[in-house]
Amino acid sequence: MLKLENVSKIYNTGTFGGKQFKAVRDVNFDIKDGEIVSLIGESGSGKSTIGKMILRLISTSQGKITYDGLDVSKIKGDQVKEYYRRVQGVFQDPFSTYNPIFKADRIFEILHEEFYPSIPKTEWDDRVKTALKSVGMNPAHVLNKFPHQLSGGQLQRFLIARTLLLDTKFLVADEIISMLDASTRIDVLNLLADLRTKGLSVLFITHDLSLGYYISDRAVILYKGSVVEIGDTKKIFDNPIHPYTQMLMCCVPRLDQKWEETEVELTERKPMTPDGCVFYERCHSPHRREDCGHRTPSLVEVEPNHSVACVCCGG
Ligand SMILES: Nc1ncnc2c1ncn2[C@@H]1O[C@H](COP(=O)(O)OP(=O)(O)O)[C@@H](O)[C@H]1O
Ligand SMILES: [Mg+2]
Repeated sequence: MLKLENVSKIYNTGTFGGKQFKAVRDVNFDIKDGEIVSLIGESGSGKSTIGKMILRLISTSQGKITYDGLDVSKIKGDQVKEYYRRVQGVFQDPFSTYNPIFKADRIFEILHEEFYPSIPKTEWDDRVKTALKSVGMNPAHVLNKFPHQLSGGQLQRFLIARTLLLDTKFLVADEIISMLDASTRIDVLNLLADLRTKGLSVLFITHDLSLGYYISDRAVILYKGSVVEIGDTKKIFDNPIHPYTQMLMCCVPRLDQKWEETEVELTERKPMTPDGCVFYERCHSPHRREDCGHRTPSLVEVEPNHSVACVCCGG
């Protein structure tokens, strides 16, 4: 199980790093084995920052991330190698992941040398072929190709094959679907769902609510680095409570609902204090109160496995 406890990330910004910006604020959630959790929020909400902290690509400023009880920021040497055998990431732009001068076979050779040098070459080659076939690729068509000769969808499936070879247990999938065409999207989503049945856990990062709904057991709704709503995906979608989640839902086209135009109140708000609700400036909920601007609502359980951070439910 992967667990985030009071995790925050502060970036140093400004010309000489003199200013600080809190991109992730006190985030708590966990992902159990074989579970798919989607992390949903608009651009800039801190989703990739969370993914990068899990993958140890950047440090955690406050709080801790543990994997099977081990603090991932404290592991060293062989533990790090073991961690990356289990925890891997696939990102939005699969082209940037590859060295363009290596053919696909070389990418798998590197994996062999790095992680499994004791496995004989013939056995490794068989494993590569099995992994490629299980992501729906024909090894003979792929292995002698350069990355630029493969399509985006092929490259992403290729990356997933790589995680299969590493016996990955936990995958951070950061906006992996965005650049794929519709039919490949379904292939990759179904592939993830299939791998889940084999015990893979996935943090599925997306700005697209409908993708989160399609794939995940639980959802975490993030706004300006704070978790505003969290719980069973179906409960959140059937009964969105936080004004931000409700706003996101309005933007999702649904075939079973008639489009209703709602008037948006345009009022100037005082800038909030650092302790205020992150959504204060954009909130149009009838429950909004003046003190929302200077107090942080805590997550309150509104029904089993569904919590919301808003004054509207006592947060
Ligand atoms: N290295 C960095 N230095 C300073 N600010 C950063 C850095 N990386 C990201 N940010 C800022 O942190 C916020 C969250 O970014 P990010 O995690 O990439 O969001 P998302 O993936 O949800 O779009 C954004 O405001 C972004 O500009
Ligand atoms: Mg991102």
